[in-house]
Amino acid sequence: MNFRTLEGLAVKGRRVIVRADLNVPMADGKVTDRLRIERQAPTIRELSDKGAHVIILSHFDRPKGKVVPSMSLKPVAPALAEEIGRPVAFADDCVGPVAEAAIAKLKDGDVLLLENTRFHPGEEKNDPGFVRQLAALGDIFVNDAFSAAHRAHASTAGIAALLPSVAGRAMEEELRHLEKALSHPERPVLAVVGGAKVSSKIALLEHMVKRVETLVIGGAMANTFLAAEGLLVGKSLYEPEYLETARRVIHMATESGCALLLPTDVVVAKELKPGAAHRTVSTADIAADDMALDVGPKTIAAFKKRLETTKTLVWNGPFGAFETPPFDKGTMAAARAVANATKNGKLLSVAGGGDTVAALAHAGVENSFSYVSTAGGAFLEWLEGKELPGVEALKA
Ligand code: 3PG
Repeated sequence: MNFRTLEGLAVKGRRVIVRADLNVPMADGKVTDRLRIERQAPTIRELSDKGAHVIILSHFDRPKGKVVPSMSLKPVAPALAEEIGRPVAFADDCVGPVAEAAIAKLKDGDVLLLENTRFHPGEEKNDPGFVRQLAALGDIFVNDAFSAAHRAHASTAGIAALLPSVAGRAMEEELRHLEKALSHPERPVLAVVGGAKVSSKIALLEHMVKRVETLVIGGAMANTFLAAEGLLVGKSLYEPEYLETARRVIHMATESGCALLLPTDVVVAKELKPGAAHRTVSTADIAADDMALDVGPKTIAAFKKRLETTKTLVWNGPFGAFETPPFDKGTMAAARAVANATKNGKLLSVAGGGDTVAALAHAGVENSFSYVSTAGGAFLEWLEGKELPGVEALKA
């Protein structure tokens, strides 16, 4: 895919609008996880170094077109300033006289953050009037928010049609890795799809099963697959209404020659509680009052064996209830095995999704994958093979 980038772009003295994703975890008015801010910093720093008047747009949370004070971006400005090592001014509105006055004050290299775009109903509606108001604030548009690119909103897709627009550094990095992992991967490819629900990942499973050599199913959604194969899953979380979907995926895997790896042993307990009494059983021996909460050592051994011949790995979703030890062991063992293979230069590994990033951080390997995407919904939609409006708008 060819898309326009910051390379060779003259920005000195020009008003450059950067669409960032500063939708970061926050508690008591303080940013609690800076990963997204760290990812957005290089583009902002580069533009500021080159003398642009940097104007940052972002959404925060879901205020649904109304001003919700607790969803203001104001508390993000100091965290961003610290990250980029220079002051960040803040304006209480992202369009109109307040934004215009703040922009008029900018000198070469200055950075300004505008208030939450979603305080205006025109943002999510991609309303042409609102798009024009946003576009009037700048000369150039830089989209650096892959994680918001699945939304056809005014500040992601709409504005890109009115201004010369390019991908920022974080967007570039994200697209490059996703392309390498899925569009033109070195084969064989292995995909890990975990998490609680088959129902939320049907499109993803159906897309991946036709494109990868191995599909590993983990998390509670594996229980639905086990049940679809006629096994008893006791009190385990599963979706009885999606057994047919699971059977369809199993059938598609057979048709396309994709090896489907389901758990062969699981860690079961009577309750999901830290330190709960547990044991490991074969998936054929789950008792009526058992809950499967993690995969067992045989399943991990089979995963590691597959990994030995895998060249490219894509990971979305944990293997078990990793937030509640001891049910984190399977996810941690698998994550560490992937990290090792990556470090040894044998594997290109790309992971994404909120839970997945948290699981990798829990295993201490979030920096040992080839790339970890901070995108949730956008990463899923990419894995589903969908076009992302924010990305489409940047194609050369
Ligand atoms: C995310 O957190 O995945 C992005 O910021 C997009 O947020 P949204 O799901 O509210 O559009």
